[in-house]
Amino acid sequence: MGERLAGKTALVTGASRGIGRAIAEAFAAEGCGLVLNARDPSTLSTAAQAIGAEYGVAVQHHACDVTDGAAVKAMVAQAEAVTPIDILVNNAGIHIPNSFLQYSFDDFKAVIESNVYSVFHVTQAVLPAMIERKAGRVINLASSAGKWGSRNQSAYNASKHAVVGITRCLGLEMAPHNVLVNAICPWIVDTDMATSFVEKHAAVAGVSEEELKQRLEASVPLQRWIEPREVAGLAVYLASDEASYINGQAWAIDGGYTMI
Ligand SMILES: NC(=O)c1ccc[n+]([C@@H]2O[C@H](COP(=O)([O-])OP(=O)(O)OC[C@H]3O[C@@H](n4cnc5c(N)ncnc54)[C@H](OP(=O)(O)O)[C@@H]3O)[C@@H](O)[C@H]2O)c1
Repeated sequence: MGERLAGKTALVTGASRGIGRAIAEAFAAEGCGLVLNARDPSTLSTAAQAIGAEYGVAVQHHACDVTDGAAVKAMVAQAEAVTPIDILVNNAGIHIPNSFLQYSFDDFKAVIESNVYSVFHVTQAVLPAMIERKAGRVINLASSAGKWGSRNQSAYNASKHAVVGITRCLGLEMAPHNVLVNAICPWIVDTDMATSFVEKHAAVAGVSEEELKQRLEASVPLQRWIEPREVAGLAVYLASDEASYINGQAWAIDGGYTMI
């Protein structure tokens, strides 16, 4: 247990499982109060209770769909009535792979809405109070898919390129207000999303799930997937006072896949 985020509160979207939950736990372990969000109220409340009990920090939880702008405004207003939000982690997202020609417009749109418009809604709701206090951190979960092209997931890559673009623009716009905005770009992280990613990609590519997983692992220098806690460590750093001059960056966590 540390104190790198003591006295702060973070809103983490998509915090009931996977990377969001790992970030919430790592923040709590550094003394950070939490406002946790996801759609399913039952999984969310179980996660919130477990984290509060384990780390002894204040944990609010608000179930809502972050693609719903009105619901997001209500969530942020309720949270801010209790405590200022010092750190925002835009983590909620979905992945629906397909070959470009096979995508339905509904699937393509759902990915853009969940991964991009969610960032618009939540960030626009949280920034005014950060600007007023002249302090804040925004951390966006983009992806290595926000930096390069991939087969059979053009909607996802388009959405994550957009998240990197928003990060850079907000890094410029928010700097005068002492609100720092960065993105994290992991390669494959071992979560429910990765399991479903392999299942769907194997079907689209016409290979077995095991073969696809082996091919993917062999393609990265560290030859394994990323643990959620390995993403959470960077999020803690970006949220902490140590990162006070880091702004507008898209941080790769890809085991050396890219070296530019
Ligand atoms: N796993 C990877 O390989 C990987 C790699 C790079 C980047 N990322 C990015 O990292 C983020 C987290 O990924 P993950 O692997 O942890 O995903 P995950 O295991 O599928 O978990 C997603 C979380 O987001 C919530 N969520 C999804 N849509 C939501 C919405 N519209 N409103 C509110 N909550 C929502 C889910 O809960 P509910 O279903 O209850 O809403 C869940 O808590 C995503 O942005 C993803 O694109 C993941």
